[in-house]
Amino acid sequence: MTNGREAATPGVVAGSLNLGDEALNERVGRGLALVEDALYAHLSQGDEILQDKVMHLVRAGGKRFRPMFALLASEYGDNPMNEDVVRAAAVVEMTHLATLYHDDVMDEASRRRGVESANARWSNSVAILAGDHLLAQASGIMAELGTPTVKHFSETFGTLVTGQMRETVGAQGSDPIAHYTRVIEEKTGVLIASAGYLGGLHGGASEAHIRALQGYGHAIGMVFQIVDDIIDLFSTPEESGKVRGTDLREGVLTLPVLYALAEPGEVGDRLREILTGPVTSEEAVVEVLSLLERSQGRAHAVADVAQWAQRARGYLEELPDTAATRALDALVTYTAERVG
Ligand code: IPE
Ligand code: IPE
Ligand code: MG
Ligand code: MG
Repeated sequence: MTNGREAATPGVVAGSLNLGDEALNERVGRGLALVEDALYAHLSQGDEILQDKVMHLVRAGGKRFRPMFALLASEYGDNPMNEDVVRAAAVVEMTHLATLYHDDVMDEASRRRGVESANARWSNSVAILAGDHLLAQASGIMAELGTPTVKHFSETFGTLVTGQMRETVGAQGSDPIAHYTRVIEEKTGVLIASAGYLGGLHGGASEAHIRALQGYGHAIGMVFQIVDDIIDLFSTPEESGKVRGTDLREGVLTLPVLYALAEPGEVGDRLREILTGPVTSEEAVVEVLSLLERSQGRAHAVADVAQWAQRARGYLEELPDTAATRALDALVTYTAERVG
């Protein structure tokens, strides 16, 4: 046990996904434990009035999907899972976590990672500052990784913020599905692509392999976010660790809803009547959810998931047939099929 931490290998992905190869399982498990050590070491720095706030969601868990992908990406270089790879994986997770603190303020979400969100537990101000502290710590680690990583991060984070802003301002009369697609590429696809890029780069992979890892990351990121949006509507809070229907309450129309809204007939008509803004009452949320169950919205979104999954697999053809590549293939299946 380090710093009061209980599990050596955190993250439900690492716990539940068999990477299909004993040695790889062990290497990635060891790498993830090092990432965890780095998170704890860096986030226990700074004034203690910050520490309990940032450790709240670090301790709550999460899948550690991005650091795990960064570690796997480093397998394509001649120096996998080295110190810099671990640092890069920690930077990506800290950045991700910072955006979750901020996202829960924007989404007025009360639960995250199966526990109270920071904004609900303390306040919006505390949650915003905790996110900022995470970014400050991430910047410190990044400085040790060199200027190309800092530059890459600046672009990645800039795109992510653009996506959150684009979601916030809404489609404004443009095609809603094209708008949705662009938003999720920016807010989610790019950071997961970055995990592949940084893992490959710091592991010493070739440029061609780094490009394939980035492309794969982008495509699996799209799978990840569409599935997350399906989960918001159709999974129980026990499965997701979040509040069901948060997107509807915030007036954010995600892919299953957009498809259902475009349907002719009674279900589509009623949805078009209700969904003119945020859904505020519990009664209306329940009605929308039941209309969605009767629509083809989910099925259409699932078909898009399958297409993005196929694109992700396409990038794997540009990588050698190794245990890591087979693990990335399994990760596509896991991501496409997850319910929480
Ligand atoms: C949540 O990400 C935000 C999205 C991009 C959908 P995760 O589902 O990876 O969150 P944790 O890290 O497991 O809590
Ligand atoms: C997540 O967006 C994207 C970022 C945090 C950048 P969501 O609002 O869909 O994520 P959840 O559902 O709150 O995890
Ligand atoms: Mg949210
Ligand atoms: Mg959001």
